[in-house]
Amino acid sequence: MKLHKEMSAHHIDDVVAETLAQQIKDNPTLCLGLATGSTYIPLYEKLVAVIREKKIDTRQLKTFNLDCYADQDPEDEASFQFFMQKHLFGPLGITERQIHFPRYESDLDYGKYDTLIDEAGGLDVVLLGIGVNAHIAFNEPGTPFSSKTHKVLLAKETLASNEIFFQGKKIPKEGITMGIATILAAQKIILVAKGESKANAVYDMVYGGVSFQVPATALRNHPDVDVYLDPAAAYHL
Ligand code: GLP
Repeated sequence: MKLHKEMSAHHIDDVVAETLAQQIKDNPTLCLGLATGSTYIPLYEKLVAVIREKKIDTRQLKTFNLDCYADQDPEDEASFQFFMQKHLFGPLGITERQIHFPRYESDLDYGKYDTLIDEAGGLDVVLLGIGVNAHIAFNEPGTPFSSKTHKVLLAKETLASNEIFFQGKKIPKEGITMGIATILAAQKIILVAKGESKANAVYDMVYGGVSFQVPATALRNHPDVDVYLDPAAAYHL
C-alpha cells in the first residue's frame, strides 16, 4: 500500500485525474471500477476537464460501478446511477453499453456481475473511497475477504453519512456491492480519502490488524494500491 499524504485535497484531484486520463489514453478499452460519494465529485469534475482538454477518446472505455442501493429507481436523484450520470457519464458522453451497475431482479443473480467483469477482461483500475467505518464500496464490517458481488444490509454509520444525498427522503436500508474479492482482483486500486471524519478509518486501514471487521484492511493484501490522503484524513498517521 503506497501512501500519498503530502497533498491538499485539490491537488489530489489533479494528480488522480491526470493519472486516470493517461491510463485511458494508453489503453482506450480500459475497464474501470468506479466509486460514488462526495469525495469523487470534484475529482470527476477534474477528470472530465482533463479528458476534454487532451481530447482523450472514451468511446471504448468500460465502466463498472462499485455499488448501488437495492430497491431504488435508478432515475431517483439520490441514486448512484443519477450521481454518475451527472458527474461523469453525462459530461463525457459515456453511453449505456459502457455502463454497468450491480442491479438485478433476483437475489440469485448477483454473481452475474462478477461474470460480466471477467468477460470484460477484468478490472484494470478500481477507484475507491472509504466509509467512516472503513467500508470499501458497500462492504460493511464483517464481510469476508472472499466475497463476490452481493446484497448487504447497510450499517448505521453508512446510512447516517449518506443521508445528505436523500434530502429528507427515506434512504434504502440495503445495497448491492462488488465483493472484496471482486475488488482485490483488479490490477490496480486507487483509494482517496479526505476530511477528518475519515481519519480513524484510515488509521485502522493502515495500522490496524487485518480483519473482516475493518474491510479496508483487505487492501493490504493487494500488490498495487495507491492511497491518496489529504492532511485531515492522514491526521493520525
Ligand atoms: C458510500 C459508497 C462508498 C464510498 C463511501 C464514502 O457508502 N458506497 O463507495 O466510498 O460512501 O463516501 P464519501 O466520499 O461521500 O465520504
